[in-house]
Amino acid sequence: MSDHAKKMAAEAALEYIKPGTVVGVGTGSTVNYFIDALASMKHDIDGAVSSSKASTERLKQHGIAVFDLNGVSELPVYVDGADEINRHRQMIKGGGGALTREKIIAAVADRFICIADKSKLVTALGDFPLPVEVIPMARSYVARQLVKLGGDPVLREDFVTDNGNVILDVYNLNIGRPIELEEKLNQITGVVTNGLFAARGADIALLSDGQTLTTLD
Ligand code: A5P
Repeated sequence: MSDHAKKMAAEAALEYIKPGTVVGVGTGSTVNYFIDALASMKHDIDGAVSSSKASTERLKQHGIAVFDLNGVSELPVYVDGADEINRHRQMIKGGGGALTREKIIAAVADRFICIADKSKLVTALGDFPLPVEVIPMARSYVARQLVKLGGDPVLREDFVTDNGNVILDVYNLNIGRPIELEEKLNQITGVVTNGLFAARGADIALLSDGQTLTTLD
């Protein structure tokens, strides 16, 4: 993974930002480059909604206003990274643990623009362990249900989400049918969110190898 590739993909997303609008901002090292690039447009946009405390902090450092999502009625674009993405623009996300707020903003936005190093493009999702955010008291119950689905859940040590919950990273799941699995995982009591972004994937993916930009749409 090269920083130059992440930066190239991040800067390409500026083209999709419309002046006079609020911008949805994801989380992660690629998004950090996007936030830095967005600073060059800070007088043209109304501000941002953010998917994590870390991104909020960085946006504010650049003097970009951060709004509560509840006060925002229109969100044309959400820009975020991915841990894996396939050709259908379905993704695994949550490596940084911000999956719940990311999924909420993605649901609100008209368009999801995924920015990533091209090494994140895979033929089949699942080498990256699937993050699942869980209410702490349900941790063991949810882990047992995940084992029944064929997964090997591992508690992310010394990590609490921005929402006060824990993350189970699930290895060895068969993700042959991503939309079905996303729904199935959502139905386990105690699961807040899972990191499969399949039912609502990205609308556009901007992938860079550091030399060239590939657009999937
Ligand atoms: C954050 O929770 C994740 O969903 C990130 O979008 C993902 O981990 C990508 O992060 P990088 O840009 O750091 O690879």
